[in-house]
Amino acid sequence: MTYTTHDPRTAIVTGAARGIGAAVARQLAGDGLAVGVIDLDEADCAGTVEAIRGDGGSALAVAADVADEAAVSAAVARIAAELGPPTVLVNNAGVGPRADLVEMSTEQWDTVLGINLRGPFLATRAVCPHMIEAGWGRIVTMSSISAVGDAARVDYGSAKAGLIGFTKSLALQLGRHGITANAIAPGFVVSDMTRASARRLGLGFDEFRRNAARSIPVGRVGQPEDIAHTASYLVSPGAGFVSGQVIYVAGGPVD
Ligand SMILES: NC(=O)c1ccc[n+]([C@@H]2O[C@H](COP(=O)([O-])OP(=O)(O)OC[C@H]3O[C@@H](n4cnc5c(N)ncnc54)[C@H](O)[C@@H]3O)[C@@H](O)[C@H]2O)c1
Repeated sequence: MTYTTHDPRTAIVTGAARGIGAAVARQLAGDGLAVGVIDLDEADCAGTVEAIRGDGGSALAVAADVADEAAVSAAVARIAAELGPPTVLVNNAGVGPRADLVEMSTEQWDTVLGINLRGPFLATRAVCPHMIEAGWGRIVTMSSISAVGDAARVDYGSAKAGLIGFTKSLALQLGRHGITANAIAPGFVVSDMTRASARRLGLGFDEFRRNAARSIPVGRVGQPEDIAHTASYLVSPGAGFVSGQVIYVAGGPVD
């Protein structure tokens, strides 16, 4: 569904310099939203912002670590001032390093939970007043199939499961303001994250993705655009009766 010029809206997508976030940002811009592109380094966002502007859309790059409270507040304030009050938020920034439990440092646990779970809390809290003011909002948070258990990453699996409780709680608390909250739980998606996993396992990426595709019912791995289309639906005006849901975008069902 596209937005009309009578109904301009601003979206924020975190972790949008590359991968799934970049595809979501481009998709939402194509849907007619102005997009605040947040990532760790402003220069890294240039590709996403230039692609959006090249397609005739509107975008602004802002650097922020989503785990940093002051940086998140400042980024949201700048996007609100320059693009307009954000009423769409896609909590996408995430990290997923592998480490066995007994070898996992406390620092790694805190970092992974900080970016993947505290980050969406900080961004949602900062954007929410604009949604309440507008009486309309869409929150989409990137969980993962790891939420149902990840043998290689107990920290990541815990954070991604936490995001499902976060999403359902937001849906319950914010629905009366016209705000929906949903989670997308991707399966294997081609990105720097899955490339890094292949490297850590000592596999070539083609071999890694071919192996993964064998156990995926549709017979292929996901692309960032697969996730972007789902986000586009969830933030659209027509999805206002869908809230508190987890959509597994994994090429098949997930138990
Ligand atoms: N790729 C997959 O197979 C897959 C599967 C399930 C879930 N996910 C989730 O989807 C999201 C996007 O993953 P991706 O595959 O595109 O990963 P990616 O590594 O390609 O991109 C992640 C982006 O987040 C940014 N980022 C990391 N830490 C940040 C921080 N502290 N503050 C701001 N930005 C930060 C990175 O700079 C990067 O641009 C993540 O939440 C990830 O957990 C990915």
